[in-house]
Amino acid sequence: MEERTIQVDLCSTKKEKPKSDQLQFGKVFTDHMFIMDYSDPLGWHDARIVPYQPITIDPSAMIFHYGQSVFEGLKAYLSPEGEAQLFRPEKNMQRLNRSNDRLCIPPIDEEFALQAIKELVALERDWIPASEGTSLYIRPFVISTEPYIGVAPSRHYKFIIILSPVGAYYAEGINPVKIAVENHYVRTVKGGTGEAKTGGNYAASLKAQEMVANTGYAQVLWLDGVEKKYIEEVGSMNVFFKINGEVVTPALNGSILEGVTRNSVIQLLKHWNIPVAERRVSMEEIYQAGKDGLLEEAFGTGTAAVISPIGQLTWNDEHLYVNDGNTGTVAKRLYDTLTGIQYGKEKDPFGWIE
Ligand code: COI
Repeated sequence: MEERTIQVDLCSTKKEKPKSDQLQFGKVFTDHMFIMDYSDPLGWHDARIVPYQPITIDPSAMIFHYGQSVFEGLKAYLSPEGEAQLFRPEKNMQRLNRSNDRLCIPPIDEEFALQAIKELVALERDWIPASEGTSLYIRPFVISTEPYIGVAPSRHYKFIIILSPVGAYYAEGINPVKIAVENHYVRTVKGGTGEAKTGGNYAASLKAQEMVANTGYAQVLWLDGVEKKYIEEVGSMNVFFKINGEVVTPALNGSILEGVTRNSVIQLLKHWNIPVAERRVSMEEIYQAGKDGLLEEAFGTGTAAVISPIGQLTWNDEHLYVNDGNTGTVAKRLYDTLTGIQYGKEKDPFGWIE
């Protein structure tokens, strides 16, 4: 790809950085951000890095009315040598364009988007926190900015990248969480936008999440939107179960997000010769496996939390305890290996680090 230039306007004063052992998820942002505009018929133009600042958008801009937007999430990690490293960033760029396509947003040159991420991260290198379990979360996103309240694809967009030094996504960290199976609300349906990373999917998930949070659950387990029988995701993560020695995860069916961590977990399990299958998984099957003592592990996978073990599943007021509420050996091994590769402390046999 022909190298495109990114204009850089540096900030005059730098913000104070938070202490890296006190970081939460996604509350603090770095000194600079990347912006690029799209207008029809010019295409994407004016790529620039500028001081982090509010943006001015017309109240009639389409993003505020019909939610035409997409986002991504990936992280930069500090290696033992003090280098910034990214984990499979090209997969995020590919998914960004799949999401763009689903939301009728014009595609973005994936190599150029990755170049923008790398230049911004290099400029903000001092913001990558060093404490264990911390990283610099990268949030690229696209919003529709045409001032028009007719329902149609926008003809103007902004592609923005912001960076946030983060700690653990869940306060529990790698400790098992309590999950409630959601029988009423659904996240999405086949043919909907479930496999795209778009804000509406997350907005639609809030109600169920709020309802269970009040009764001590960390997240909900989402069932399919048609029969409410088959498992789809857990909270904002993909989900895996270990049943009688085999690891299973719901097959991608059009309503499930194709997670980068999900894909990496499947590759690692195959590499370790642990049986793994992508197929339909019903809640009834999980319940029965639990009752028969065959449900050995359950865990969510995602960029933000990496691996999040499930210690308890509640379905129709029945409580199922997984591995006596403890983190399973496969979940722990996956967590240690993935984070080991991400932080440059383990060999990277798949060439996942850039
Ligand atoms: C992830 O697990 O990486 C997510 O998608 C969560 C994010 C929306 C904060």
